[in-house]
Amino acid sequence: MTTAAGTDLVTAAETLIRGRRAIRSFRPTPVPEETQRAIFALAATAPSNSNAQPWQVEVVSGRTRDALADALQAAHARGRRSVDFPYSEDIYTEVHQKRRAAAGGALYGALEIGRDDHDARDAYNAESLRFYGAPHVALLFAPDTAEARLAADVGMYGQTLLLAMQAHGVASCPQGLLSFYADTVRDTLGVRGGKLLFGISFGYADDHAPVNRIEVTRAPLDETTRFHR
Ligand SMILES: Cc1cc2nc3c(=O)[nH]c(=O)nc-3n(C[C@H](O)[C@H](O)[C@H](O)COP(=O)(O)O)c2cc1C
Repeated sequence: MTTAAGTDLVTAAETLIRGRRAIRSFRPTPVPEETQRAIFALAATAPSNSNAQPWQVEVVSGRTRDALADALQAAHARGRRSVDFPYSEDIYTEVHQKRRAAAGGALYGALEIGRDDHDARDAYNAESLRFYGAPHVALLFAPDTAEARLAADVGMYGQTLLLAMQAHGVASCPQGLLSFYADTVRDTLGVRGGKLLFGISFGYADDHAPVNRIEVTRAPLDETTRFHR
């Protein structure tokens, strides 16, 4: 394996990184435990500030997965939200809001849900608390003391995990929505402490679902990246 531009490794990286996308319809077939262990071992090589590796990962399957999905839906129905990292729409600037709207348009368009049909959108989000049908979900926690720096480390881990899954043919969807029910997740899993950043639902994609074929574009390079010389 060589590393210069235009070689096999670049081709592999292009295939791996560009091939990953958020999958929102899964088959129920579980991922073998051996494959899961290989994936999570690979993800654990993610970089972090001073190699502190400040992530705690809860991987949930089987009956516990079903119990968690039920508990999340019950919490949603009762309006019992609890967040460890405060959230407000104000964190997004105008350009970020535009990109969010474009992604939302692609998603809800594929689902044939109208732009102003807030009830249908809410119902879809509520249903997503069942992990889009995925047989597994990984919950990513940062320490109780976590602020932006430690959260960034967990983000590094998260993307490494998504790519490790992709390499093993396992589809995934990061779900920030799950972090709005942090107490429910902790209670159901018997987790003491830690701040929930997001969950990653994973399994094998339902290749026939139109929602898995949406095109989500990226901003042109010059819009986000400056090269100083
Ligand atoms: C931290 C994080 C949280 C996310 N939360 C959700 C979510 O709650 N529900 C969802 O359907 N997708 C969620 N996504 C997926 C994004 O919508 C998706 O990554 C983005 O639109 C880009 O599309 P792509 O992943 O297919 O390239 C999340 C992604 C990240 C990184």
